[in-house]
Amino acid sequence: MDRIIITGGAPLSGTVTVSGAKNAALPLLAATLLSTEPVELANIPDVADVGSMLRLLQRLGTATTHLPGEPGRVVLHTPTVLDTTAPYDLVRKMRASVLVLGPLLARCGKARVSMPGGCAIGTRPIDLHLAGLERMGAVITLDGGYVDAKAPNGLAGAEIRLAQPSVGATENLLMAASLARGETTLVDAAREPEIIDLAALLNTMGACIEGAGENVIRVQGVPALHAGRHTIIADRIEAGTYAMAAAITGGSVHLRNARLEHFGAAAEKLAESGVTLEATVDGVTAAADRAGLRGCDVMTRPFPGFPTDLQAQFMALMCRADGASMITETIFENRFMHVPELARMGARITVHGGSALVRGVAELRGAPVMATDLRASVSLVLAALAARGATEINRVYHLDRGYEHLEQKLGSLGAKLERVA
Ligand code: EPZ
Repeated sequence: MDRIIITGGAPLSGTVTVSGAKNAALPLLAATLLSTEPVELANIPDVADVGSMLRLLQRLGTATTHLPGEPGRVVLHTPTVLDTTAPYDLVRKMRASVLVLGPLLARCGKARVSMPGGCAIGTRPIDLHLAGLERMGAVITLDGGYVDAKAPNGLAGAEIRLAQPSVGATENLLMAASLARGETTLVDAAREPEIIDLAALLNTMGACIEGAGENVIRVQGVPALHAGRHTIIADRIEAGTYAMAAAITGGSVHLRNARLEHFGAAAEKLAESGVTLEATVDGVTAAADRAGLRGCDVMTRPFPGFPTDLQAQFMALMCRADGASMITETIFENRFMHVPELARMGARITVHGGSALVRGVAELRGAPVMATDLRASVSLVLAALAARGATEINRVYHLDRGYEHLEQKLGSLGAKLERVA
């Protein structure tokens, strides 16, 4: 398994191009199943999870064509769906595979998708996805670890109130509603920028969606979707991660293609903690205040609240702040696995249930540490960039799932790091 060795201390500076958003690419790739015509997507990030989704789609019958000279541009064409099963061996590796459920059910009237199972950060149920599809007339049975969904007469529009603003459930239901008969309203829908991006693609394919990004989304179902094309938004979580890498090393980095409005409450919280963020004509510049970092409290919330996917990174940042910070994780039940690893580097953090109290320390020290999930892994990278001495991060395949060309990007900003097979 690959490891990354990082020697800390160098302030990061320069410009980094933010890649396409992994969490937009995954639902948008699944959405291409809804049409018999070709759909062209640009700015797709070259990360492991996207590779997994492309392999799943190919198994279902999608032809994927990478346009020469433009690595992030792909044409996906599914003239016929050859298989409506998403098998356990693929879904267990990448739970976002469950996003083919809505499209397959809407287009073919049936789908057999493995229950994703839990992952490191929590049980991750899909009950809200299934309840919404049943409201639209699907008959769903659970059998042998698989969701067996049928809608022999197609799906009918319905009013669906989500018990919590689940991103994945909103995406699955938005895709299913696009081809349902009549109107669907999703109440208390997720408001993340990735939802807006999915609706934008679907509308270029002929869907009729209004209100994406707001609390209520209205969809007028149409009989079929046609060809479409869309450029995927920049990854706000990658942008926030590099902003904190700049701040924790006392540097200044220009995040090309980042959009400040996609930071949500993270923009205010970063400013409060001593990270200046300035919107520029083609991105955002992030730098550490001269006065240094200040501890501040954070509670993760659905968008536009502070994103759970930046919680681990922010905790690493607060390890170097002056004062204490209370960090509360309200979205997932087990998203503090970076805490013991940060402690190995000299961080002072105590966990009480869903909250972690971080006391800033004058210095972090390099040590061998273990990556456990995508965002916990990158929080160790941030700590290592600021630590005295060398840090060895093991199991870096977690990083490869969601950060495109991480070593190259950090190296170009002045970080001292190397990947060791
Ligand atoms: C998406 O996961 C993201 N993944 C996650 O990013 C992100 O952390 C999460 O949204 C929250 O923003 C992708 O977009 C591929 P949810 P998702 O459904 O859709 C509960 C990363 O690091 N819930 O909004 O699975 C669930 O248990 C990943 O890039 C139900 O109870 O998140 C959780 O507590 C990690 N029943 C909460 O809702 C359901 O049917 C939020 O989950 C669905 C969800």
